[in-house]
Order: sequence, then C-alpha cells, then structure tokens
Amino acid sequence: MGSTARDEHLYDAILTTRAMRRFTDEDVPDEVVLDCLRAAVQAPSGGNIQPYQFVVVRDPDRKSDLARLYRQAWARYEPAVAKVRPEPRSEADARSLARNLAASDHLAHHLEQAPVLVLVLMPRISMVVHDDQGAMDVGPTYASVYPAVANFILAARAYGLGTVLTTVFRVYEDEVREVCDVPDRFEVLALLPLGHPTGRWGVAPRRPAEAITSWETFGARR
Ligand SMILES: Cc1cc2nc3c(=O)[nH]c(=O)nc-3n(C[C@H](O)[C@H](O)[C@H](O)COP(=O)(O)O)c2cc1C
Repeated sequence: MGSTARDEHLYDAILTTRAMRRFTDEDVPDEVVLDCLRAAVQAPSGGNIQPYQFVVVRDPDRKSDLARLYRQAWARYEPAVAKVRPEPRSEADARSLARNLAASDHLAHHLEQAPVLVLVLMPRISMVVHDDQGAMDVGPTYASVYPAVANFILAARAYGLGTVLTTVFRVYEDEVREVCDVPDRFEVLALLPLGHPTGRWGVAPRRPAEAITSWETFGARR
C-alpha cells in the first residue's frame, strides 16, 4: 500500500452518509447514543474548548412538544422558502428536490416517532480576542460546534443509524429551550433525530468538487 492508499470502508461510509428522515420504531440504547456523542466530542474545536453540550430526549411527552414546535416552524418556513427557491435546473434536480421535500415533510409530521432526539447546545460566548491592535475575529463559535455534529452523524452511521442535522425549529428556539429547561445562556444549534433508517445509504447529488475548487489562484480550475 502506498502512502495515499485509501481506507475504502471509511471513505465509502463518508461518501454515502446522507440525510435520513424516516425511521423504524426500533429503539436506540442510551449506550449507543453516548458512543455517538463520544465520537462527536473528538471533533476539532478552536483551542480545543469544545463549546457545546447535548441534551438527549426520549421522553414521549417532551418529544411530542418538540415535534409540535418543529411542525409549527416547518409550516411557516417551507412556504416562505418555496417563494424564493430558484427553479430546478434539470429534471434530475427537480426529482431530487421533490424527494427532499417529501422526506422533510415526513420528518416534520413524524418527528416524535424517532426514538431519540438530540439537542446540540452552544454557550453564547464570543471567541474574538483582542490585542493592542484591535479585535481578532478568527471565526465564529459555531465553527467549533458543527464538526462535532458531523462526527455524530458519521458515528451514527457506524451503528447503521440515520440522522439529519435540523435547524428549522430555531424559528421557535425559545420555546424549544423551555421544553428541556435549557438555560438562556445557551443557543440550541441543532436538533438531531436518531433512529434506524428505512432508507438506503448512497451517494447523494452534489455539485462536483472539481467545479468549485481552484488550484493556487481563484478560478484556476483543473
Ligand atoms: C445547517 C443545516 C440545516 C438543516 N436544517 C434542516 C431542517 O431543519 N430540516 C431538515 O429536514 N433538514 C435539514 N437539513 C438537512 C439538509 O436538507 C440536507 O443535509 C441536504 O438536503 C442534503 O441531504 P442529502 O445528504 O440527503 O442529499 C439541514 C442541513 C444543514 C447543514
């Protein structure tokens, strides 16, 4: 094996992990959820400060409260985004959009049926530091949280579990915080439904990396 040999198993898992929004009713044990979170916290964060906490929700009443808020948010968001969404550029794009919308709508109407919902919290802190020449904004705190979410998604995949990064609930973020007694000093960045997916893994449609990658200077494509 040369030094650039690829771990096919790992690479394939990364390439074929996609949003999963339909779940069977099979449960996911706490120890498995925790194992996914163990992978999450191994992700990079600025200065290794790990600006996040998690809330694992499986109580039916609490899940149903979260689902109600999610549905309310989706009912406002979807029509609003439909008005500004560009027309699909091809038949394939149109089919992909239709599938995505149907799955998103399904999730909105069945969120409480996912065995576990994980909230990702971020403390409202700034990572901007100052010296005598002024402020140094080296990136938002969010940038230190989403890698953990990506690790969570991939660790779930290692267990054959599906999830999807959702944020639409943020339309009612204050109410979501109340459901789980989350102090106001945290933002709720993501809600991750976790369960056994009914869909299959596969390479999802994306813009090719070659089309959006420059070499050395901007716009120099290969
Ligand atoms: C920042 C962010 C917010 C998202 N919010 C939602 C959401 O609220 N609801 C939802 O169903 N999917 C949400 N998604 C999932 C995207 O729609 C999904 O990742 C994208 O369509 C690609 O899906 P695919 O991997 O199946 O192709 C979000 C993804 C990201 C990165």
